[in-house]
Amino acid sequence: MVKETVTDSLPTASFSETLSFLFKVMAPNIAKGVIVRRPGVVHFAERWALDKRSVKQVQAFSNKYGKGPLLFKTPFKPMALVLDPDDANRVMEETPEPFATAETAKQSALSHFEPDMALISHGKARKERRRLNDDVLQSGCPMHSFSAHFTQVAEEEVDALLKTVYHHNHQLDWPLFFDAWNRIVRRVVLGDAVRDDYSLTQELIQLRKAANWGFMHPKRKRLRQKFHDRLAHYVEQAEPNSLAAKLSDYAPQGQAKPLDQIPQWLFAFEPAGMATFRALALLCAHPAQNELAQKEVDKNPQPQPDNPFLKACVLEALRLWPTTPLILRETTERTCWSQGEMPTNTTLLIHAPYFHRDDRLLDVANRFAPNIWLDPEQLKHWPLLPFSGGPGICPGRHIVLLVTSAVLASLMKSHQYSLDPPDRLKGDEPMPALLSNFHLCFRVKHTDSPSNQTDSAL
Ligand code: HEM
Repeated sequence: MVKETVTDSLPTASFSETLSFLFKVMAPNIAKGVIVRRPGVVHFAERWALDKRSVKQVQAFSNKYGKGPLLFKTPFKPMALVLDPDDANRVMEETPEPFATAETAKQSALSHFEPDMALISHGKARKERRRLNDDVLQSGCPMHSFSAHFTQVAEEEVDALLKTVYHHNHQLDWPLFFDAWNRIVRRVVLGDAVRDDYSLTQELIQLRKAANWGFMHPKRKRLRQKFHDRLAHYVEQAEPNSLAAKLSDYAPQGQAKPLDQIPQWLFAFEPAGMATFRALALLCAHPAQNELAQKEVDKNPQPQPDNPFLKACVLEALRLWPTTPLILRETTERTCWSQGEMPTNTTLLIHAPYFHRDDRLLDVANRFAPNIWLDPEQLKHWPLLPFSGGPGICPGRHIVLLVTSAVLASLMKSHQYSLDPPDRLKGDEPMPALLSNFHLCFRVKHTDSPSNQTDSAL
């Protein structure tokens, strides 16, 4: 889409700047694992604040080149880094034409386990697949029609988890949490009968490990077929109150490929678990916000699907530590920008941590400030993109916030948490550039008499 009659070419990075970009911005994200995280590398990145360096690098580009986008001439294909908030919003809004979601690198990774998923499709196929996702996940609706059931699933699984925690020296670590989390995910997506199908999750993890390598790893066709057949079996059985049940009610159109959308739902729930664990850590490190959260929990005798403050805490965990740090688009035609033209087939990169943590423009950039999510007007024009935005926005976002906040509410019902060690995250210091969920551990204490303060400070 040609917006202005500009004929100059966009600012282009020098060779040494291109190397800095590849080493400081791209390499750490690729090494951490784009499709499934590698805990050892995440730990290393946290220890050496690699994500802080990447934000600083993008800020340096913006200080030098202004609005950008900044072009990089790489050996593979042209890449452009979005530097200006308005441009980031434009790219989101003008998806999928001329900014396609089906970007080449993303396609080569995701096609390992979901080759016909909406995100890596284009044209008519994308339209039909996106519509299917919107309908089944009820993307436009903050409360999915199965909200009550999903909340109950969260509560039951957290109860079972806490019983295990008692036999585990009252310590809650990532492996324990992740097992419980996956049981919730399987029940929400496929139904109660799939609760204990641990190997289904393991098969998907194996496929995702191959996907981390993109085109450099051969496709695991037999494993994918096995995984796909298992999904087909579960969808045929379509357990009530599951997303699979909604899917089987749906009358698919020509290229919608219903079954091929499910791996994304299972896979994308994993970062939601990471955000939940990080939100719990944030609350431990911030007593004032913890008190507000506890009041929200104590208002109801049972966990509820509607937890605005807890949802804001999860969103804030996703702002501070976005689980999709690089949002990729590919131009389908020549596009014009205030500083020049961009060729067709350019990969556009939106580096979420740069926009989320830009301390030049956002005063709360490095603080835990859940309140910013309670007044969306405040940040209307600022690109906070944990779920991307525009027509390509994550259609699962409301379900994510529902399940994550229900899990937090269930955890906090009659239980108090503290970080182990206590100085793992310090509320009076700027929030670190990365917080490894894999290396978080909590001490759990039962509180016999929950706070009986009823007046809400929210
Ligand atoms: C914390 C958890 C999650 C985060 C942060 C997240 C974030 C995102 C982001 C940033 C995108 C856009 C990616 C891009 O443009 O390249 C996306 C797409 C998508 N997400 Fe999520 N997501 C989460 C969980 C989920 C869940 C649980 C589901 C399903 C139940 C889901 C379903 C989808 C689908 C179907 C798309 C593709 C949309 C399209 O093709 O237009 N996501 N998500």
